[in-house]
Amino acid sequence: MKILVVGSGGREHALAWKFAQSEAVSVVYVAPGNGGTATAAKLENVAIDPMDFDALCAFAKTQQIELTVVGPEGPLVAGIQAVFARDGLACLAPSADAAQLEGSKTFSKAFLTRHNIPTAAYQSFTDPSAAKTFAQALGLPVVIKADGLAAGKGVVVAQSFEVAAAAIDDMLLGNAFGDAGARVVVEAFLVGEEASFIVLADGADFHAFATSQDHKAIFNGDQGPNTGGMGAYSPAPVVTDAVSERICEQIIAPTLRGLLSEGIHYTGFLYAGLMIDASGAPSVIEFNCRFGDPETQPIMMRLESDLAELCLAAVEHRLAAQTLSFSPKAALAVVLASAGYPGDYDVGFPIVGLSDVQDAVVFHAGTALQDGVLTTSGGRVLTVAATGDSVQQAQQLAYQAVQAIQFEGRYHREDIGYRAIEREVS
Ligand code: AMP
Ligand code: GLY
Repeated sequence: MKILVVGSGGREHALAWKFAQSEAVSVVYVAPGNGGTATAAKLENVAIDPMDFDALCAFAKTQQIELTVVGPEGPLVAGIQAVFARDGLACLAPSADAAQLEGSKTFSKAFLTRHNIPTAAYQSFTDPSAAKTFAQALGLPVVIKADGLAAGKGVVVAQSFEVAAAAIDDMLLGNAFGDAGARVVVEAFLVGEEASFIVLADGADFHAFATSQDHKAIFNGDQGPNTGGMGAYSPAPVVTDAVSERICEQIIAPTLRGLLSEGIHYTGFLYAGLMIDASGAPSVIEFNCRFGDPETQPIMMRLESDLAELCLAAVEHRLAAQTLSFSPKAALAVVLASAGYPGDYDVGFPIVGLSDVQDAVVFHAGTALQDGVLTTSGGRVLTVAATGDSVQQAQQLAYQAVQAIQFEGRYHREDIGYRAIEREVS
């Protein structure tokens, strides 16, 4: 089987790496891929932009690709699924309608409310003064979100009304997020511990992947501005078996049922970003219509089932007969970023030491091969992932491997997994 993975990040490298382990898979093309997918066994980069749907379809046809899997949200929200469907090509992707769950926070909040699925109280605004009045009514802390796609950075958790008002003005008047910020959601602050819960759905049935938790803030102790994610681990100890059951019953199943009742068959990965309160009750913080990055990396390290077979079964609406199995080991992934990320950063620095890495897998994100030299080309450069008998052991092995890798401006958090490790040692 030939597979096409659309995207270029650590998530896409991890998906392609897992697909390549399937005996049924002969080659995994990655469009456009990165410096890591350029050289890995069975993987091949294709220089096609993820938003150029016609070119991707043409490639899938000429190469007789049996399955295309889309990594990032941009093409999903823009409707890649319909273009592949038009050409009769198998593509694991929710439709543009379904992808609105991620593409518009106003859409997803209204959907959740309509279907009585737990989420923070909210209202959506285009008028700054009305938004500020509602923020005052909710009390502190209060959460301000740009409506549209903002690469995980369009959220401000305000501890004061001044900060809330500034965020509202930045988004609505200052054009801080372009069209994505032309509308804002103001919502109540949820208390608890976050977890990522990702499922594969085939329009009717779904299977849950192993649980995970990411660290979105740039600095240690979850301080500083949000990024796409600075590290992640699996499993998330806060999601016990009982909590997992509640999430399936109270969030995932009603979401898929609610979509169906509105005429939307959700096929693809669905990612619920959740807050779990002290009693184990889950609420939705956000939905993503794709796999998480960097959650994919530790989850793929633990997945024992054949990912190609699973994804094909989802596209062909026969997921019910499949099973997912995961290694009992824990996995932890640390992101190595360019100095300055999530703000401005320089690129083009050589990366050295990868061949010295032991007991870990290095997934590439912002890397490029320039005349045979591996260089930095993005904000998040690499994800270093390891497995262990506990999150603590996986953390030790991942950070040991991190020490082998050098590039100018290399930045990473030192504390990925600290919450899980606190639970393990207590
Ligand atoms: P989002 O992009 O909606 O996932 O928000 C990014 C991050 O902001 C989340 O991972 C949370 O850490 C935080 N956040 C968002 N909404 C809330 C909320 N209602 N209560 C508490 N924290 C939140
Ligand atoms: N790690 C968070 C995300 O993929 O949105």
